[in-house]
Amino acid sequence: MRVKVAEYAALFYERGRLVWDDYLHHRQFELTEVAERVCRAFAEFADPDEVCAELAPEDAAAVRKVVDELVEARVLVVEGSAEHGEEQALLAAWASWGSSARHFHFATRTLGDTRYASWTEQDAELDDKLATNPPPPPFKRVGTGPVELPKGNGLPDWANRPLLQVLLERRTTRRFGEQPLDLAELGHLLRIVGGPLPVKGAIGRSGTVLKTSPSGGGRHPVELYLHAQRVEGLEPGWYHYDAARHVLEPLGTTWTPEQVATSAGDQEWVGEAAAAIYYTAVLGRTRWKYDTARAYRVVQMDVGHLSQTAYLVATAMGLRVGFTAALRDELVEEVLGCDPHHEIVLGVTALGRPRRRR
Ligand SMILES: Cc1cc2nc3c(=O)[nH]c(=O)nc-3n(C[C@H](O)[C@H](O)[C@H](O)COP(=O)(O)O)c2cc1C
Repeated sequence: MRVKVAEYAALFYERGRLVWDDYLHHRQFELTEVAERVCRAFAEFADPDEVCAELAPEDAAAVRKVVDELVEARVLVVEGSAEHGEEQALLAAWASWGSSARHFHFATRTLGDTRYASWTEQDAELDDKLATNPPPPPFKRVGTGPVELPKGNGLPDWANRPLLQVLLERRTTRRFGEQPLDLAELGHLLRIVGGPLPVKGAIGRSGTVLKTSPSGGGRHPVELYLHAQRVEGLEPGWYHYDAARHVLEPLGTTWTPEQVATSAGDQEWVGEAAAAIYYTAVLGRTRWKYDTARAYRVVQMDVGHLSQTAYLVATAMGLRVGFTAALRDELVEEVLGCDPHHEIVLGVTALGRPRRRR
């Protein structure tokens, strides 16, 4: 029999203890120093009898005991066993995404017996929380001198376009015309994508709001920032969209088209857009309700829903639009002043007018 240390787990220190995190089977336990040293001896498949034969007899018996315990605990896998097969399938399928992707996926993958709280239990928990720990505000305010967005009376013409037609027309465009956007249509788009709806539901009691897009737990962690390059009536530069007041808050910086493209992983078409909406998520809003790692997935899904709304509204308006997740997060964090422990960068929607036909 040959055994080796399993590769469906990660090792990390937590409060000074070395933790074996078998993310594939959702098992976590402490590894002793001796167990860790034994694991090192079995980095490659080896026969425990042969390994122990090289040790002094009193050490051999102790090491053999630890090996047997580690085999029993599936920290060491036996060559040809079911666990070995599982490990090989995992490594083969997830090789190109590396160990952190497979760790996150399987650690947050729910199992057949994962317990979900009932609505009644969730409500009771929420009530307790509301009494002691109020939720963070649903909108961010940067506080810089606001630029008013046109209020707009009534529905614009494009709002009557049939949904199915808009869905069929929606395409990602990577070519934009030179003509500027107008501030009123940009205001419409920001309000429809990021603004609160004038409706109240049960969800409102936890201090959150409803929008045109759904959001996990109604938490709406996503914030919208605008980089304007060619918008009539708006100075080029960076703004935060304060959805509660429907105003733009200038951030005091303007990027060149090259800087915009660099932030979007060197995609020139993003730099050529008339404007770009960058999405971040304020994690505290979602964390307030959900304290499991799986909530991180929910945040990513939230931005997908908002981005699709932006796609559809921009398409209905006759604009050109494209989303990208290929971003240099750090550059965007720096310009927006985001602390990545609390507000994370998610993606960008580039917007512009169609190119004029010659
Ligand atoms: C999450 C996500 C990430 C994307 N990232 C990029 C990107 O980095 N660069 C790009 O040119 N397009 C990107 N796109 C656009 C896709 O390439 C596009 O949706 C796809 O080619 C299908 O075309 P369609 O949107 O016209 O249906 C992204 C789309 C989504 C939803």
